[in-house]
Amino acid sequence: MIVLGIETSCDETAAAVVDGDGRVLSHAVLSQIAEHVPYGGIVPEIAARAHLAHLDRLITKAMDEAKVSYADLAGVAATAGPGLIGGVIVGLMTAKAIAAVHDIPLMAVNHLEGHALTARFTDNVEFPYLLLLVSGGHCQLLAVEGVGRYRRLGTTVDDAAGEAFDKVAKMLGLGYPGGPAIERAASSGDKTRFAFPRPLKGKPGCDFSFSGLKTAVRLAAEALPEGAFTEKDVADLAASFQTALVDSIADRVARATDIFRKAYPNGKSLVVAGGVAANTALRDVLMKTATKAGLSLAVPPQALCTDNAVMIAWAGIERLKLGLTDALDFKARPRWPLDPDAPKATGAGVKA
Ligand code: KG4
Ligand code: ZN
Repeated sequence: MIVLGIETSCDETAAAVVDGDGRVLSHAVLSQIAEHVPYGGIVPEIAARAHLAHLDRLITKAMDEAKVSYADLAGVAATAGPGLIGGVIVGLMTAKAIAAVHDIPLMAVNHLEGHALTARFTDNVEFPYLLLLVSGGHCQLLAVEGVGRYRRLGTTVDDAAGEAFDKVAKMLGLGYPGGPAIERAASSGDKTRFAFPRPLKGKPGCDFSFSGLKTAVRLAAEALPEGAFTEKDVADLAASFQTALVDSIADRVARATDIFRKAYPNGKSLVVAGGVAANTALRDVLMKTATKAGLSLAVPPQALCTDNAVMIAWAGIERLKLGLTDALDFKARPRWPLDPDAPKATGAGVKA
């Protein structure tokens, strides 16, 4: 069962060919980061145009490298949301055209389900499992019961974790994307120099909040003598921020493991997915959290944690195996929660 996957929901244009056993036959990725760097973040209009300009070529490259023809494909999968809608439409329309011309099934994939199911083929994780999804746009804890079956245990009431990394990096002049830049700066910093708050730590529930922490970093930076802002100051701020954020996440995850273990006694794994899962400090702390809860930790390799088309192809394969294919009039969705029954989060700047 060979499937072509297409990802265009953010600033990565990607196409991949994957088979039913999870073997990656090819993966062609084009990062648009350089085009967005001058603006300090992703510009949706630029992203959509770049997807349009490069997607055809990337698909041809992926098909060539995999040495397959369209006749070999069992289906085509594309991210159909959530994401920057211009880009999502480019990828989904392309997949629809391929499905129509070659008369193969279309799988309209939820980008978050792509992240959520990655550990199934990288680490053979079995349902049910506890998932921490930490990316630039999302920060959620979910019980994954099966394909298309998610129960949200917690979500952010303001910023996503990656967003907090990106905003703090911008504040410290570290550029975009912020996560890797903060991690690099933090490696030589003193994490005890600034006593930043651990948002929601010790509070009931599994929700996240990062805006107060972000403000605390800004106030601490502003309190330093003007004109004498050293590289060491930046490293110490980055290290103290990263430690506080990771500590806050670990507390929320520990609470979620309690709920998960009670609700799913046969569940064995904690899975971390999304771009922020690349963070080593977070991985290290979550390893301890998982062990303490009697769960094993699965974190896909970095290239499959950040946005990619392999995860979309794989989610398509999982869906195709269950006969879950989609009609060609499937509409692109800017918002698409994995658990539609989850109550709306309440807090300062709510994002569901
Ligand atoms: O999953 P992803 O590639 O795109 C979204 O769907 O959002 O995640 C991108 C996010 C960015 O906010 C980036 O700063 C963050 O992941 N990120 C990291 C690291 N690498 C990427 N955050 C912390 N530490 C990292 N090493
Ligand atoms: Zn993503």
